[in-house]
Amino acid sequence: MGFFDLAAPFYDRILHRAQSHQLRYVARFLSPRPGEKILDVGAGTGVLLAQLHGQGAQVTGLDRSSAMLREAEKACPGCQLVLGEATAMPFPDGSFDAVACVDALHHFPVREKALSEMIRVLKEGGRLAILDLERRHWLTRLIQSGEWLLAERSHFYSAEELAAWLTHRGVECEVEPISPVEYLIKGRKKS
Ligand SMILES: C[S@@+](CC[C@H](N)C(=O)[O-])C[C@H]1O[C@@H](n2cnc3c(N)ncnc32)[C@H](O)[C@@H]1O
Repeated sequence: MGFFDLAAPFYDRILHRAQSHQLRYVARFLSPRPGEKILDVGAGTGVLLAQLHGQGAQVTGLDRSSAMLREAEKACPGCQLVLGEATAMPFPDGSFDAVACVDALHHFPVREKALSEMIRVLKEGGRLAILDLERRHWLTRLIQSGEWLLAERSHFYSAEELAAWLTHRGVECEVEPISPVEYLIKGRKKS
């Protein structure tokens, strides 16, 4: 049983404040039109799914923890939830108008593979929202040490590293710092 399977029942209670702060920025960037198809990678307990679903989007959440997805089902009844790996997504190329990944990228075992998958499943012109923690910040280092103690092998990018990697692969990026330690990459896949 993994870390998130154990944490799932308490996750929202512990992280409620951080989640609602992050959600504001991500939802504002994505601002979905009704019917748009949006994928949340590492969707966890489904807080973003619920918000975007409420705005009329057709949302899909992918996560490798079945316990987290059980919580997501409660938060967002009617959302499509998929148990799976970010590094090998079961979706055809160009399936989504937007892809989000919030506070999850640093958990993925091969981050570059997961990022390539996000780009692959995104339509041309589609939006990519990635929110994560700044690699060089002291708080990130502290969180990383804590996660390693809990056997979660987290690795972080700086915003500049991540934006450069994505730009090189055809995603135009703008970086929005949303706190001293968190950034949001606002990307668009070139046509
Ligand atoms: C810190 S939580 C963030 C959850 C949610 N995005 C949020 O903002 O509340 C990270 C999530 O990523 C999921 N995850 C970790 N590694 C994964 C992988 N390789 N493939 C898919 N999901 C993964 C975990 O199960 C967990 O639900």
